[in-house]
Amino acid sequence: MSATAPDTLESDAAWQWLCRLRDHERPPEDDRLWLDAQGAWQARDAVGDATRELLDCLVPLATHRERLAVAQLGQSLDGRIATQSGHSHYINGLESRTHLHRLRALLDAVVVGAGTVVADDPLLTVRHVPGRQPVRVILDPRGRVPGHVRLLRDAAAPTLHLVGPDTMPATPTGRHVTRLTLPLAGDGFSPAAVLEALAERGLPRVLIEGGGVTVSRFLEAGVLDRLHLLVAPLLIGSGRPGLTLAPIATLDDARRPRARTFRCGDDTLFDLILRNA
Ligand SMILES: NC(=O)c1ccc[n+]([C@@H]2O[C@H](COP(=O)([O-])OP(=O)(O)OC[C@H]3O[C@@H](n4cnc5c(N)ncnc54)[C@H](OP(=O)(O)O)[C@@H]3O)[C@@H](O)[C@H]2O)c1
Repeated sequence: MSATAPDTLESDAAWQWLCRLRDHERPPEDDRLWLDAQGAWQARDAVGDATRELLDCLVPLATHRERLAVAQLGQSLDGRIATQSGHSHYINGLESRTHLHRLRALLDAVVVGAGTVVADDPLLTVRHVPGRQPVRVILDPRGRVPGHVRLLRDAAAPTLHLVGPDTMPATPTGRHVTRLTLPLAGDGFSPAAVLEALAERGLPRVLIEGGGVTVSRFLEAGVLDRLHLLVAPLLIGSGRPGLTLAPIATLDDARRPRARTFRCGDDTLFDLILRNA
């Protein structure tokens, strides 16, 4: 009798299943992967460590049907997301960058602050994995983002340019760009109002991708469901901080969210569960 090696579920197959899971109200039919009555994933074949971590980490996001706000920051051990001059490519390794692209593909919209657009001129598209392109959202309350940035010129995905009242944002913009004026509340838009505006446009599941100022404002406003901190074994020593929150008097006041950890190559992903998501 010849022994046959058991099949092993590959990460690529698991990712394709996650994408289908995200797009369907009911779990897709698949004889290799399914959700049990409790919503936990089950597999017919042996599952390697990387695939298991992928499923454990992302099934809760792929199955979430309500509004969802997930933030991410890729940071050094000492909590920096860029050098003082704004250089940030790359703090994290390829596996973390692939994780970021997976988050983009699973969520409806990806939000960045004006600082990141000016510093990095990012595309915010899904390139490291196959997947849907999210709507790209710029928070630009003073209309300071110049018209030549790629988010306003490159039509690979729609761009929503959120500006404050009485601003004179740069022109021209491509037909993929929609400009929307939001009221200012204090020194910027209310994060809750940003999420509300996106939900009204059919974008209920949102990734707040950075930078530090933007993620800190959303965290401080209490509107985040999850925060994915991708920590790289790197010491930058000075530079742009990741999170900056209001001072607290004692450690009793520190936030201690429930956390799950995952390996991402040499980096560690802290999946902080801030609300019931
Ligand atoms: N490692 C990572 O994960 C990562 C991710 C993204 C970016 N980065 C790096 O981070 C640096 C930029 O980050 P940053 O913290 O300096 O800036 P940022 O968060 O990208 O942008 C901050 C600016 O965005 C606007 N903004 C943010 N939240 C807003 C709100 N609720 N309402 C209105 N406007 C809002 C404001 O623009 P105004 O100033 O015009 O008011 C604010 O000053 C860059 O060097 C980039 O390379 C790293």
